[in-house]
Amino acid sequence: MSQLMRLWIDGTWEDGHKQAPLLAPYGGEELALVGYASPEQAARAVEAADRAFREHCGMPAHRRSSILYQAADLLERRAEEAARIVALEAAKPIRAARAEIARTVQTYLFAAEAARSLTGETVPMDAAPRGEGRTASVRREPVGVVSAITPFNFPFNLVAHKVGPALAAGNAVVLKPAEQTPISALFLAELFEEAGLPSGLLNIVPGDGRELGPTLASHPLVSFVSFTGSPEVGRQIRQLAGLRRTTLELGSNSPLLIDRGFTEEELGRIADETAAGAFAYNGQVCISVQRVFVHEELADRFAAMLAERAKALVAGDPLAEETDITPLISAKAAERLKGWLDAALARGAELLCGGSFEGSLMRPAVLRGVPEDAELSCEEAFGPVAAIAPFRRWEEAVAAANRSRYGLQAGVFTKDVEHALHAAAELQAGGVMINDVPTFRLDHMPYGGRKDSGSGREGVRYAAEEMTEAKLVSFRSGLYR
Ligand code: SIN
Repeated sequence: MSQLMRLWIDGTWEDGHKQAPLLAPYGGEELALVGYASPEQAARAVEAADRAFREHCGMPAHRRSSILYQAADLLERRAEEAARIVALEAAKPIRAARAEIARTVQTYLFAAEAARSLTGETVPMDAAPRGEGRTASVRREPVGVVSAITPFNFPFNLVAHKVGPALAAGNAVVLKPAEQTPISALFLAELFEEAGLPSGLLNIVPGDGRELGPTLASHPLVSFVSFTGSPEVGRQIRQLAGLRRTTLELGSNSPLLIDRGFTEEELGRIADETAAGAFAYNGQVCISVQRVFVHEELADRFAAMLAERAKALVAGDPLAEETDITPLISAKAAERLKGWLDAALARGAELLCGGSFEGSLMRPAVLRGVPEDAELSCEEAFGPVAAIAPFRRWEEAVAAANRSRYGLQAGVFTKDVEHALHAAAELQAGGVMINDVPTFRLDHMPYGGRKDSGSGREGVRYAAEEMTEAKLVSFRSGLYR
C-alpha cells in the first residue's frame, strides 16, 4: 500500500477531497496516493495564509532569516533523501537530482541573506524646489499572500525560488506544486515546520491546476501570483489575476550562437557544454539549448561532435549512478515530441542521431535543416533535441535567434569582442550568456524573460523585491517652529 499524501493547511495535515495515484515515470510503480485539494480547500489555505500574515507581518528580519537558514540546513542534512524523491517522482537522473538539491540549499541561503538585506532608498526631495524641507524614504513592505504555482522539472529549486523570496520579504505563501511532483513539495512542509515557521505562513495544496488555478490566481485575499509553466497557462493566470501583481516564467526555445575561429579542442569543449545544455534532464529545462546557430566553417565538425556526445549518453533507471537519459515526464509529452519530430523530418530535416522512442524515453536527437517555422524550432521542445543551423554572417545569426516568440536566455561563444557586444545589445532575451550556454544559471542571478517567455524576474533578491510593495514616507520638518 503506497503512502497517502495529505494537504498542509494552517499547520495541519488534512485529507484531500479526492485521491489520485502518483506513478513513477520510470517503471510505473505507484509512489503515493496523493490527496488533491478542492477549490474550497484552496480558498481555506488562502484564508489561513492571510490570517498568518496579519499575525506575523511584524516578524523581525533576523527571525525570518534564521528560519530560512534553518530550513537550508535541514535540507542539506536530508539531501540524499530529497534527491531520491526527485529521481523517483520526476525521473530526474540521480546525479542531476543531487545537483538540484545542492542548488536548492543555496537558494534558501540566498533567501536567508535577502531577508536581512532588503532595503528601501532615500529620495532626494529637495531636487525639486517644492520639496525643500522634506526628507523621504521608500520602505519595502510585504505584499501579503503569495500564490506560488510551480512546475515539475525542478520540484525543489523552482519551489525554493518562490517560497524563499516570499518568506524572506515577510509574506505568507500558498503553494500548488505540479501534479507530477507533490512529494517534493510536501517534504518542504516538514522542513519548515521543524525550522520553526509559524503555522499558516506556508500552505501546500497539491491538486489539479485547472480546478485550483481560479482560486489561487483570483481569490480577493491573494496579492501576488508567481507562476512557472507554459505561455498558454501563463496567459490564463494573467487574466484571472486581473490587477494583481504577477511573475510569469514561461519557458523558451533557447538559442546558442557559435562563432568561427575555434580550435578543434575548443570546439570539443563547446560541444561538451552544448550536450549538457541540450540533453541534461532530457532537455526538460526552460533554458535548455534548442536552436544552435554555428558558423558555416565549423558547422559540419560541430554537428558531428555533438552527435557523438549525444550517442554516448546512457539511458536507464534514474536511480542508477551512470544514467543520463530517462523517460520524459509523461506519455503525452513523448507523443507531442514525436509528432513534432516526425513533422520536421517530413519537411526535410536531417536526423544526425537519436530521435527513437522506447515508451516515453527519447534518445537525444541532433538535427540539421529544421525549417524555422516547424514546431521543433519555433515552439518550446522541452525534450532532448538540438537543431543545428549554419550561418555565414554574425548579424544573420543574431537575427535568426531573435525570430522566436520566446526570449528567456541566449548563449554565445565568440572570441570577437565586437560580436559579443553586438549579441549583448541585440539579442531579445532576459539574459545573454557570453561564452556559456543559455542553460547557465546561478540562483542569485536575475532570471526571467521577454516576449512569450514571461514577465518579472526571479533570482532570490529580485523576486523578494518584486514580492514587496514600495511605500513612500515623506517627512516634512520645520512646520511647527
Ligand atoms: C527552468 O527550467 O526554468 C529553471 C532552469 C534552472 O533553474 O536551471
